[in-house]
Amino acid sequence: MFAFLGLLVPLVALGACAPLQGISNRTKLLLVSFDGFRWNYDQDVDTPNLDAMARDGVKARYMTPPFTTQTSPCHFTLLTGKYIENHGVIHNMWFNASTGQKLPYYNTQRVSAWWDNGSLPIWITAQRQGLKTASLFFPGGNATYQGERVNVNKVEKLFHKYDNETEWRQNIDTVMKWFTEDGLDFVALYFGEPDSTGHKYGPESQKRKDMVSQVDRTVGYLRQRIKENMNSTLNLIITSDHGMEQVIKEDEIFLRTVKNFSFSDIKFELVDYGPLGLLEPKPGKLEQVYEALRQAHPKLHVYKKEDFPKRFHYANNTRVSPLVLYGDSGYVIHGRIKVQINKGEHGFDNEDINMKTIFRAVGPAFRRGLEVEPFESVNVYALLCELLEITPEPNDGSLEATQHMLVKNAGTRTISPLATWKLTWLLGFAAFLRFLTGIPCHVLL
Ligand SMILES: *[C@@H]1O[C@H](CO)[C@@H](O)[C@H](O)[C@H]1NC(C)=O
Ligand SMILES: *[C@@H]1O[C@H](CO)[C@@H](O)[C@H](O)[C@H]1NC(C)=O
Ligand SMILES: *[C@@H]1O[C@H](CO)[C@@H](O)[C@H](O)[C@H]1NC(C)=O
Ligand SMILES: *[C@@H]1O[C@H](CO)[C@@H](O)[C@H](O)[C@H]1NC(C)=O
Ligand SMILES: *[C@@H]1O[C@H](CO)[C@@H](O)[C@H](O)[C@H]1NC(C)=O
Ligand SMILES: *[C@@H]1O[C@H](CO)[C@@H](O)[C@H](O)[C@H]1NC(C)=O
Ligand SMILES: *[C@@H]1O[C@H](CO)[C@@H](O)[C@H](O)[C@H]1NC(C)=O
Ligand SMILES: *[C@@H]1O[C@H](CO)[C@@H](O)[C@H](O)[C@H]1NC(C)=O
Ligand SMILES: [Zn+2]
Repeated sequence: MFAFLGLLVPLVALGACAPLQGISNRTKLLLVSFDGFRWNYDQDVDTPNLDAMARDGVKARYMTPPFTTQTSPCHFTLLTGKYIENHGVIHNMWFNASTGQKLPYYNTQRVSAWWDNGSLPIWITAQRQGLKTASLFFPGGNATYQGERVNVNKVEKLFHKYDNETEWRQNIDTVMKWFTEDGLDFVALYFGEPDSTGHKYGPESQKRKDMVSQVDRTVGYLRQRIKENMNSTLNLIITSDHGMEQVIKEDEIFLRTVKNFSFSDIKFELVDYGPLGLLEPKPGKLEQVYEALRQAHPKLHVYKKEDFPKRFHYANNTRVSPLVLYGDSGYVIHGRIKVQINKGEHGFDNEDINMKTIFRAVGPAFRRGLEVEPFESVNVYALLCELLEITPEPNDGSLEATQHMLVKNAGTRTISPLATWKLTWLLGFAAFLRFLTGIPCHVLL
């Protein structure tokens, strides 16, 4: 008799009330990155739209990126929830230390073997769990992972102009169409600013401030379009990869001039790329090179890979060279000749306040008008998975870092699979009571 009821009750629940869809009311999710948006860029520019978003949602005081604070590595941490040494995208440039070959940022986007190094980005995990996803210019979006690609993928052309506000709005319109017409659940949208302007003119320049105004206008446009097209039933996260530091042009670190150091002792080098240096000395030369560089400059830190500070979670990866160098805040590393002319740079220590970046969120899942304490960007992935109601891959982050941002029962899984099962029975019981009494479900529950 009870076994029979056990079968009957859920069936009655489905037939009589059909409220079960409500359990998995997945809200769509848009992740936006404005590259190189330093945590305090909104403090010396009027940003009415970012301010409104903070009033309507959640704002972190700042967010701490992983080290090294470069674009592709930091974005891949957002997408995987792993520190850089654990996901393997250790540099913006693909390289092969055996052959000395290197590729710049743009070309590296197409080298799947660089990205697909044992960690799955959230696109693929979501797709495997039945969702549809897209990337618009997002770093990592143009690779295949274990043979799988992102469902919808827009890639910028070589030498793309990243600052075209008209195109930004077209891209937003494209994303709206993806959500409303093409049924996508998750989109990652990338803007190359204010990074480019911060590099070229420096983080304290008027040009950078103007670009932050452009970002703010774009946020206003985006939120307007979300209201119009999706009736605000979308969770929106606006974040970035790293901050920006004014480059110091006096007493620079210049390896060619270091006493007892010679590039003829080096098998592979990756320098002239901000403050990070990767060196592989020729066989038998490691100690000599290390000794020569160790005291070379008061602002230069030189480590054997195994001694690199563990707090960076950077060096424990086969791709990292035997010697790792980095410059203190503002000091970039020049190699043979000075080719670095940027006024602004990143890549520095992620504890440097100028490397900190933004995190903002708004939507049905988020509390309103809440400012939260800083947290590490390695935790964003767990939040994205929670919002999408998907099971995350193993990662270095935790939902605990962001859970307090969420309101209960609004587009997020506050119900565990086990609880869902119990709820099914509860609903079934309610339906059974309705069956007996004629009182509607929502009154009983
Ligand atoms: C689904 O979520 C949307 C947005 O959070 C909400 O407006 C709607 O009422 C929800 N529907 C159900 C059945 O819970
Ligand atoms: C690097 O190049 C060498 C020599 O061509 C090749 O054997 C090796 O597989 C390459 N490694 C990677 C990671 O591409
Ligand atoms: C990661 O890349 C390195 C070469 O750069 C390769 O030796 C290693 O097998 C790769 N690991 C995975 C899991 O793809
Ligand atoms: C990468 O982008 C190019 C150019 O848009 C495209 O042809 C290619 O299919 C993309 N690859 C993946 C894996 O998305
Ligand atoms: C900006 O983008 C729009 C739309 O794609 C295009 O028509 C225009 O030519 C672009 N402007 C510049 C300066 O590239
Ligand atoms: C938007 O949502 C509100 C509140 O949930 C609702 O009253 C309104 O009818 C919705 N508008 C449209 C166009 O769906
Ligand atoms: C350079 O090497 C020589 C010989 O090993 C040593 O005597 C000298 O102190 C070194 N100079 C510096 C600046 O390290
Ligand atoms: C380094 O990484 C390997 C996995 O690649 C891991 O087994 C090991 O525990 C790590 N070592 C440290 C010191 O973190
Ligand atoms: Zn960047």
